[in-house]
Amino acid sequence: MSLLNEIEPLKQTALADLKAAADLAALDQTKGAWIGPHGKFTALMKQLGTLSKEEKPAAGKLINAAKVELEAALAERRSELESVAALPKEPTDFSAPGRRRALGKLHPLTQVTEDIVRSFRKIGFVVADGPEIEDEYYCFDALNTPADHPARDSQDTFYLAESSPAGTGKGGAAAPGEGSREKPSLLRTHTSSVQIRVMEKQPPPVRIIIPGRVYRRDNADATHNPTFQQIEGLYVDKDVTVGDLKGTVEFVFKELLGGETKIRFRPHYFSYTEPSFEIDFSNALVKKLGKEWLEIAGCGMVHPQVFENVGYDPEIWTGWAFGFGIERIAMIRYGINDIRLFYENDVRFLKQF
Ligand code: DAH
Repeated sequence: MSLLNEIEPLKQTALADLKAAADLAALDQTKGAWIGPHGKFTALMKQLGTLSKEEKPAAGKLINAAKVELEAALAERRSELESVAALPKEPTDFSAPGRRRALGKLHPLTQVTEDIVRSFRKIGFVVADGPEIEDEYYCFDALNTPADHPARDSQDTFYLAESSPAGTGKGGAAAPGEGSREKPSLLRTHTSSVQIRVMEKQPPPVRIIIPGRVYRRDNADATHNPTFQQIEGLYVDKDVTVGDLKGTVEFVFKELLGGETKIRFRPHYFSYTEPSFEIDFSNALVKKLGKEWLEIAGCGMVHPQVFENVGYDPEIWTGWAFGFGIERIAMIRYGINDIRLFYENDVRFLKQF
């Protein structure tokens, strides 16, 4: 058989071999056997030189075309085998049970906060915010709380080391004209400090609520925790009365704790309100605890001195403020008997609400 006639059958066998290679290693071997330096097809090319002058061009053309075809077949098989190699080793078992994606829930304290905020929004209040690292001015002085007040005792509050973190407002390095304002030096004991920060920044009227974390030097037990959450409210306008305060609190508490909820005001003392009250409420939940009334919040009419401190004219402006603990409400609402459960992040507990 002449060389010319050998080309086509040899090419067909080579193509079949390449297609049959079962994996990349086998493909490399097949490649070597055919078009490697000692391959059968390479040997054929070497024989070209033995042909006559007339036969050479036709044979050369055929061999080149066959070589191009073999290389294309090699590349195609290689990419096929590569994509097979990239597949997972184990076949997919479509009958295996799916992976359940657990849906999260809002923390019960967040739920209560959001409910309260929603009620206040209905009557025109907006949410305000302030720093948790405070100075004594915003936490106490501006709220008319004297230096010898027990709340300022180092046993009652967390005081910080000297260095003052940035971004805590006017309480930081004193700006010109601010006199002897102190450096941020404590963790706020109540959200009432934000009342001052807001009033300093905006002229009246004011209608804000301030949810936020506060800190006290309390040992943790079933009803205390060194950090807890409060909601503060502040309303400033002309001719504001205790009746407005009572009506507002009643509206919000009925929304939060049920329509049959009753509230009552008891006289109390806070240095930043005058007169001041404590708010008790009563409903089926309270009765379940074997009580008639449960104390829930402090409140009162904003003290004229507080208005003076922020530059509001107390002859023109009147207002009320209140503050209460979120945990307390959540505990009553959900029948939780230990405040520490809120902070343990035990999903079995959190899932229930
Ligand atoms: N700041 C008080 C506390 O932490 C609560 C409070 C009482 C807030 C009376 C007020 C208020 O705004 O007027 O116990």
